[in-house]
Amino acid sequence: MAAGKGTRLKSQLPKVLHEVGGKPLLEHVIRAAARVVPAQDVYAIIGHEAERVRAATQHTGVNFILQAEQRGTGHALMVARNALAGETRIGYDHVIVLSGDAPLITPETIGQLRDFHLRENAAMTLLSADLENPTGYGRVLRKGARSAEVQAVVEEKATTAAQKKIKEINSGFYVFAAKKLFANIDRLSTSNAHGEYYLTDMAAVLRQARERVVAWKTANASEVLGGNTRAELADIDEKMRLAKSRQLMADGVTIFYPATCVIDADVEIAPDTVIEPYVQLLGHTKIGSGCRVRSYCVIRNTEIGDGVSVLPGCIMDDSKVSAGAIVGPYSRLRPGSEIGEGAHVGNFVETKKIKLGKGSKANHLTYLGDAEIGAGVNIGAGTITCNYDGVAKHKTIIGDSVFVGSDSTLVAPVRLGNGAYIGAGSCITDDVPEDSLAIGRARQIVKEGWASAKRAARKK
Ligand code: UD1
Ligand code: CA
Repeated sequence: MAAGKGTRLKSQLPKVLHEVGGKPLLEHVIRAAARVVPAQDVYAIIGHEAERVRAATQHTGVNFILQAEQRGTGHALMVARNALAGETRIGYDHVIVLSGDAPLITPETIGQLRDFHLRENAAMTLLSADLENPTGYGRVLRKGARSAEVQAVVEEKATTAAQKKIKEINSGFYVFAAKKLFANIDRLSTSNAHGEYYLTDMAAVLRQARERVVAWKTANASEVLGGNTRAELADIDEKMRLAKSRQLMADGVTIFYPATCVIDADVEIAPDTVIEPYVQLLGHTKIGSGCRVRSYCVIRNTEIGDGVSVLPGCIMDDSKVSAGAIVGPYSRLRPGSEIGEGAHVGNFVETKKIKLGKGSKANHLTYLGDAEIGAGVNIGAGTITCNYDGVAKHKTIIGDSVFVGSDSTLVAPVRLGNGAYIGAGSCITDDVPEDSLAIGRARQIVKEGWASAKRAARKK
């Protein structure tokens, strides 16, 4: 179920597209579901901003059902009836219902819920959990203290003072026997605080129809937490990232202050790499072994080889850094930067769409864009590739073992042959052949005695 607006978030963005652990809430739930049943048997019920939700999640390969008007969780399942139990498709015997806003759920727990449902031969099985603070959740009313059977679920707004004290909450995850669900779902009514069809009322409806309704309580209560408010989202995000850090540590990665690091769910890091405090590793970033990522780096969708040093304050997007390279402090690798084996990129160096060859160095205050740079090249401090003429971008090609003197401007398109030297302070507009020296600057003039003459003139 992912059709709701998420009123409590006060957001333009639909609730299920809000992110935790670097991914939309719904994507986490879909991923868990798709590990229990094949993706082609997963259906996302969408409604509010449906096209936006569909666009953000259709890469997962699931089906979509449109709940054009959102009249409650019970109504969501009414709308799904045709797709799940209609005559046009193979009807399903059982339907697992998941809340699109509860992303900590694991495939293991969903599987255990399903197994319990099948063992109990139930019409409806709900996943429950004991929460220290159950406020906001529906409460489970059991038939007896030790009974698996459920009488009803009471939504927060309808609870009596005594019911408010019940700590066993309804998680919003269920398994239904499909025929029994759809034979009775039209008995739901909207006579409640929100004027909606509550799926939770199916417990009482099915009991009245003398069907078996049970609850299975998970010991992993935090898995059922829903992100209805910004505070709840922050709490879930923190839990998810801490779990990610713990997993990485278990796999051999050192993380000094995990609580200060932001590491997305899909990030991969090999053993013996050290992550210092206040580092963000985002998207599909992949880091080799024996690396050290120092504080205050923000690295997104970047592949880093083995034994790389990333010094403090680097920003990297969609780039690649090969083994043994040293980057930073304060380097900015923009998309398409490929830093070769053992290369150095130093402070206040910005790169975009470049290849920097093996062992080449650009250590200080430089802009390299749209460039192919060979191996063993030294790019002096303050070098600029002038890649843009105001209309189009042009390429700079630099061969192997080239020495570019400090403060040079290379006006693209331009090519520097292997082994060429560029004198410091040059503005290079023409190609430089192999092994030659190019100097493109005004010749220095020295006027001896000029300064003392000037001082003497001032005194008079
Ligand atoms: C629901 C349960 C509550 C439970 C809680 C657990 C109901 C009536 N209450 O409350 O007992 O403790 O989940 O998190 O079900 N949705 C639709 N279509 C709609 C309405 C909602 O698809 O018409 C989707 C929402 O996008 C969301 C999910 O259903 O992903 C749950 O809806 P939400 O409004 O968050 O329900 P809660 O108030 O949290
Ligand atoms: Ca919710």
